[in-house]
Amino acid sequence: MNLQNKTVVVTGANGGMGQAITKRFLEGGAKVAALDLHVDELEELENEYPDRLVTISANLTEEKQVKDAIEKAVDFLGKITTLVNTLGIAQSATPIDEVEFSQWNRLMAVNTTSLFLINKEVVKTMKKQGMGSITNIASIAAERPRPGLNAYVTSKGGAIAFTKALAIELAEYKIRVNAINPGPSDTSMLGKFSPEDGDVDKVKEETFKKSVPLGELVKPEDIAEAALYLSSDGARMVTGSVLNVDGGRGI
Ligand SMILES: NC(=O)c1ccc[n+]([C@@H]2O[C@H](COP(=O)([O-])OP(=O)(O)OC[C@H]3O[C@@H](n4cnc5c(N)ncnc54)[C@H](O)[C@@H]3O)[C@@H](O)[C@H]2O)c1
Repeated sequence: MNLQNKTVVVTGANGGMGQAITKRFLEGGAKVAALDLHVDELEELENEYPDRLVTISANLTEEKQVKDAIEKAVDFLGKITTLVNTLGIAQSATPIDEVEFSQWNRLMAVNTTSLFLINKEVVKTMKKQGMGSITNIASIAAERPRPGLNAYVTSKGGAIAFTKALAIELAEYKIRVNAINPGPSDTSMLGKFSPEDGDVDKVKEETFKKSVPLGELVKPEDIAEAALYLSSDGARMVTGSVLNVDGGRGI
């Protein structure tokens, strides 16, 4: 797919899925603004695509930092055809009566409220353009919760509801808004959901991989392909959808 006409903002771009998505769009010829708290993992890509990639370090739960980061992105990209939000944090499985208020609030801030802040700024540009595609990465956990992931599941449920709310609101501007629900995926985040075992590889193999009917963990590249499709002209009539990329039924 030729992506030369795509100008893309990826958030959480330093993470497992974010890197794969950034790389995939660059390989197709797109221009990308990659936003994250830290951007150190993107150095190699920056060297490879100096003219088509800008990295922007920002805490995307802070309103002012989001505004500044999106302004820098627009300066670099000119316009924003595509936004893919992958930023997120995991919750270590915790019984509800032991969850700290601060832990709950942090999960909501990173996984849900940041989407409000980022989408709000990007939509200002997309409305002027009269087009755009937004993809928010939620989680299959919002549909099939695991015990103890109460705050995480709620935050991702919020991300899905927000996606649907924006899809209906922004359709008249030809802005499409969709979500992807990854199943258990082979990134460093997966080990953080059950760290009490202490052995991340064991948790990945025995807890998560076994739960996937297709027999393997989702790869970050699988999520990149789904993000690519949702942002493509081939998906021009797809909005308000939630695409499960979960190998059948991971938990
Ligand atoms: N890995 C999985 O099994 C899995 C499953 C379902 C859904 N997801 C979701 O997919 C998305 C990507 O996950 P991943 O596995 O690549 O995780 P990851 O931890 O590798 O990447 C997440 C990125 O978000 C960034 N981030 C966190 N807080 C931020 C903030 N305040 N401001 C800016 N950036 C911030 C982190 O720095 C990190 O680079 C997340 O939203 C996650 O919840 C992951």
